[in-house]
Amino acid sequence: MSSILEVRNVDAGYGKLQILFDVNATFEEKGITAIVGPNGSGKSTLLKTIMGFTNVYNGKILYKGRDITGKPPHYVSKQGIAYLPQVGNVFTTLTVRENLRLAGYTLPPDEIEERMKWVLEFFPVLKDYLDRKVGRLSGGERQMVAMGMALIRDPDVMLFDEPSANLAPILARKVVSEVKRLRDELGVTIIIVEQIVKLALEIAEKAYLLVSGSVRYEGDAKELLNHPDFGKMYLGIV
Ligand SMILES: Nc1ncnc2c1ncn2[C@@H]1O[C@H](COP(=O)(O)OP(=O)(O)O)[C@@H](O)[C@H]1O
Ligand SMILES: [Mg+2]
Repeated sequence: MSSILEVRNVDAGYGKLQILFDVNATFEEKGITAIVGPNGSGKSTLLKTIMGFTNVYNGKILYKGRDITGKPPHYVSKQGIAYLPQVGNVFTTLTVRENLRLAGYTLPPDEIEERMKWVLEFFPVLKDYLDRKVGRLSGGERQMVAMGMALIRDPDVMLFDEPSANLAPILARKVVSEVKRLRDELGVTIIIVEQIVKLALEIAEKAYLLVSGSVRYEGDAKELLNHPDFGKMYLGIV
């Protein structure tokens, strides 16, 4: 396996407020990497930094060997990296069809229809809701719409920020298994931030533990579950 995305010695933050400190991370092509850590440790900031939403003071971000440090989000997204933010990832007053169309608006019109068919083949459940307003769907179904919207541009890498947030446990598991299916069936490289650490570590091969904006652990996802400090940090985990 070779790496598709690399974060090298990155210091980053918002304006003058530094959040990430000398972060190094390597993401394998077609791999699933989990980013875990306590609240406020910088997990979302790391994803936002890859997408170009933050200020990078030092270090580099390399995608397919090319330097994308400091590039704006629309540029990064065009290169093939899709980002699913934790909130506000769907338009609730629009229908599923309208959401998917909107997500593909930069594609040629005939291609949008083709891509839409392809997305619906991958998420057949959405076929039944095409003309329904997203605001009327359940949380789990909304996440499926958000994933479909990201998928419509056929990305090579997908960044997920807590896709299971606010979902009942059984739905959380379902959504995370759909994330895994994106890799297993379509070969998408996945980077997933999750509060339900156990769920993420179950589907991931590799994991990073972020604490106070620094990488505390890098390695095998399953080994992290047995890490001596793991329990101290995640007392709530069953
Ligand atoms: N837009 C922002 N402007 C300033 N500070 C922010 C912003 N977003 C997040 N932060 C701060 O960055 C730190 C890390 O936040 P975040 O990356 O969201 O953590 P996590 O996702 O691990 O919970 C927190 O202290 C948070 O208050
Ligand atoms: Mg977060």
